[in-house]
Amino acid sequence: MPHPRSRPRRNRANATVRAWHSQAWIGPQHLVLPLFIHGGHGREPIASMPGCERLSLAELEVEIAAARADGIGSVILFPKIPDHDKSTTGAESYNPLGLVPEAVRRIKSRFADLIVMTDVALDPYSSDGHDGIVRDGVIVNDETVAILCRQAVCQARAGADWVAPSDMMDGRIGAIRDALDEAGHADVGILAYTAKYASAYYGPFRDALDSSPRFGDKKTYQMDPANRREALRELALDEGEGADAVMVKPAGPYLDVIAEIRAATALPVAAYQVSGEYAMIKAACARGWLDERRVVLESLIAIRRAGADLILTYFARQAARWLRESA
Ligand code: PBG
Repeated sequence: MPHPRSRPRRNRANATVRAWHSQAWIGPQHLVLPLFIHGGHGREPIASMPGCERLSLAELEVEIAAARADGIGSVILFPKIPDHDKSTTGAESYNPLGLVPEAVRRIKSRFADLIVMTDVALDPYSSDGHDGIVRDGVIVNDETVAILCRQAVCQARAGADWVAPSDMMDGRIGAIRDALDEAGHADVGILAYTAKYASAYYGPFRDALDSSPRFGDKKTYQMDPANRREALRELALDEGEGADAVMVKPAGPYLDVIAEIRAATALPVAAYQVSGEYAMIKAACARGWLDERRVVLESLIAIRRAGADLILTYFARQAARWLRESA
């Protein structure tokens, strides 16, 4: 009988040997918890994201206290804005008394060392449901960037530690960096959504915020899912404009892009396991088709293996708990 001289299974024979060459690891410090907020009372369920809720500011505090206990050190906020505060210019996005600045002030006064990130984009505030201002059916770039700068400065004034532009307008990272610096917020970091794809996986998120585009799609600013080289171009621009960290989104279906960006930059790389990725896992697990704990941790380690330093995930709290239990 011919037999193999090389037997990779010798390196998998038991837990100790397996641990010698385990290459990726994950801890709660790698996880960022996205939270949805609303201006009303209590918690509102989100049908397509079971286990996630829109939180009032009081409930936001409760949720963050619990997340801290789970080991979560950073959160990112997404607001549900009522229709009467939406407009074609998204002016509510830079209202210093708006929902997001209010939320940031509240949580930073209670949890000073929590890293609070805020989303910079107009879609929650836009009556057109687009990330920028629409004129004659076109999402206009430079006018939008001017508003995004006001939004970012407003969030920084409220105490945001990092701003995360998710709008995909050209030139916004540099413009926001300048605006923050001029306003005296040189310490506020920018997590750039660098390679953000025009993805169907955002559906549940848009349900959560009632932020779907009222016409058309986002393909004139978000990237074509077929493209990899374009991600490198966006990376070069965002790095050159002063991004402190760069993001790939979605995460699971775009591991090749994460790996490519990881290889091309010395900046921290983030990946966003988006609402659709969450919803798919939740749906399969609710039917008993997948083991939730195992599949969630596998999905996250795969994103880390591809090269992500931090992961934005709706599973952050559960994952942090599971990781602690198995540590
Ligand atoms: C919008 C924004 C989106 C997400 C984060 N910021 C949706 C979109 O671009 O339409 C999606 C996040 C998710 O699906 O979990 N600026």
